[in-house]
Formats: sequence, structure tokens, C-alpha cells
Amino acid sequence: MIKERVLTGDRVTGKLHLGHYVGSLQNRVTLQEQYDTFVFLADIQALTTHFDRPQYLGQNLNEITLDYLSAGINPDKSTLFIQSMVPEIAELTVLFSMFVTVNSLRHNPTIKAESKNSSLDELYYGFLGYPVSQAADITFCKATIIPVGEDQLPHLELTRKIVRRFNELYSPILVEPRALISETPRLVGTDGNAKMSKSLGNAIELDSTKEEITFKIRKATTDPARVHKNDPGHPDICPIYAYHRAVRSHGAPEIHDSCESGSISCSACKQLITTALDQLIEPMRERRSYYAARPKVVEDILLSGTKRARDIAQETMSEVREAMGLNYFSK
Ligand code: TRP
Repeated sequence: MIKERVLTGDRVTGKLHLGHYVGSLQNRVTLQEQYDTFVFLADIQALTTHFDRPQYLGQNLNEITLDYLSAGINPDKSTLFIQSMVPEIAELTVLFSMFVTVNSLRHNPTIKAESKNSSLDELYYGFLGYPVSQAADITFCKATIIPVGEDQLPHLELTRKIVRRFNELYSPILVEPRALISETPRLVGTDGNAKMSKSLGNAIELDSTKEEITFKIRKATTDPARVHKNDPGHPDICPIYAYHRAVRSHGAPEIHDSCESGSISCSACKQLITTALDQLIEPMRERRSYYAARPKVVEDILLSGTKRARDIAQETMSEVREAMGLNYFSK
């Protein structure tokens, strides 16, 4: 039986953290058991906002690969590859771009939000067009299941539109993917900011030592209404409670009750989550140090995954060329 294909990736703009683990990595670890899973390093997409800092790509690429492997993405089950090393994706992007309107990109809500928040002074062509490149990321291997966050839905819709348009214009060879929306809410930062992010300095990294976890949790914001130990708390606005829910779900209802009734102190609550986080990260640290000590093994994982992706991409491209009549000398 042919397994359905899953594809997801990350821009290589920085190391991954607990928010990524909770929101996507752990899900990929589950998906790889059942599906032909592709996980890729979106270095070209990273360039859309970081074109002036290409020197960081290689370093980020290595760190994220270690994050993947340490989180439990198994290279025997998942295909890991590097976007820029599958040039067929770029080729497909160019072909798709012929029938995508600039207006549809300008009205894409995620593009709008990201360009407002970005440090870029102008709207760049590559950035505006990255959803088209994302459609190529997905369709080159005919992936059907795309696990993403809510913000990626407009891109998925565009991909589906591109596939339909391509199939109707040329020949029905591409496959419409569907989004698999992450059910876990976005993880808050240790400072209570809605988003855990390395650049905001409120993230718990996947290679944290026990001391680092202890320190970050000790300093983390809690419900400001709880001045004294017995003050009733509001767990739903507390980052520590969000962490309980994310990584200690069995114990979370009890924490919720004892916080609301003021029967557990913030420091006892923090102690519990510190232990749970350390237990979660401990096997990741182990796998990380295994791979970090074996750069050649990591390189082979990326090269062989990229080779598999590229073989598939070349097959798809030859179908695409034929569908579009670009196969001049191989008819
Ligand atoms: N834009 C995605 C993100 O920021 C990363 C990404 C690039 C992606 N290409 C993709 C995700 C294709 C899913 C499918 O998270």
C-alpha cells in the first residue's frame, strides 16, 4: 500500500524551541510512523527576509537539523532535505508564477501581517512571491497532508488554487494538498508574551540544561494577582499553567484547581513544571549530543534525504515539462 505523503518545513532563521516542539515537532514525530513524511529546511524562504545575512544560513541549518533529530524525527522514517539543493522547486516556482496574480499575493493576510511586522522597508518581489514558492515546495513531491499553523492557511489555499489552475490549463498531474491544522494553541513565552520566540528572549530551547530550565522557569512571569501564597490565582493567564497543559496534560486540571483555590504556591507549581520539562528535554539532550559529535552522520542524513527529494522532483518536473509542452527534444 502506498503511504500518503506529509510535508512540512521551517525557515532556517534560528534555532527551534519548546514552542516549536509543542506546536509541530512532536506531531511530526507521530506522523512519521504512519506517513511518508518529508521535513525540509526552507533556506530559500529564509532568504526572503534574511537576504542580507546569508552567512547565518549554514549555522542555522545545522542547529535546526540537530533540533529535528533530537526531538525524535527519525531519519529512517522521515526524509530530511534542504530546499535550495532541490533546484526543481525554484524551476516550478517560476512556472507557477506565470498564472498567479500580484493582487492575490498582495491581499494574502499572512503576507500583509508579516510585511507589517518585518524590519524590511519595502515589499520585495521574492518575499511577496514566497507563497508561490511554497506551492512548489508542496507539489514537487505531490504531498497531500500539510501540517501547519493557522497563519499558513492562506498559503495552502493558494497552493490548492495553483494546482487546480495548472491541472486545468495543462494536464491533471498535480495533487491538491490539505492542511492539517495544529490543535495545540501557540505556546506563550516565559515573559507572558503571546509568542515564544528566540528573538524576544522568552524561549526555552530544546538543548537547555537542567540549570537553564530551572533559571528560566524561576524568572518566568506568573499571575500578577498572586502576591501571597494563598491568593486565588488565574491559571488561564499564567504561562506556567500553559506549560503544564502543554507538557503535563495529565496533571493540568489539578494544577488549575489548586491555583484557583490558592492551595498551591507559584514556586511549587514552578517546581513541578521544571521537573517535567527536564524529563521531556533529557532524551533530546542525549540524542543531540550523539548527533552533534557525529557531523558526518548528520551530513549524510541531509544528503541522502535531499537526494531522494531531488529524484522525486526530477520525475515531477519531467511530467510538468511534458504537460506544458516544454519537452522539445524528448518527445
Ligand atoms: N512558511 C512556513 C513557516 O513559516 C515554512 C514553509 C515553507 C512550509 N514551505 C512550506 C510549511 C511548505 C509547509 C509547507 O512555518
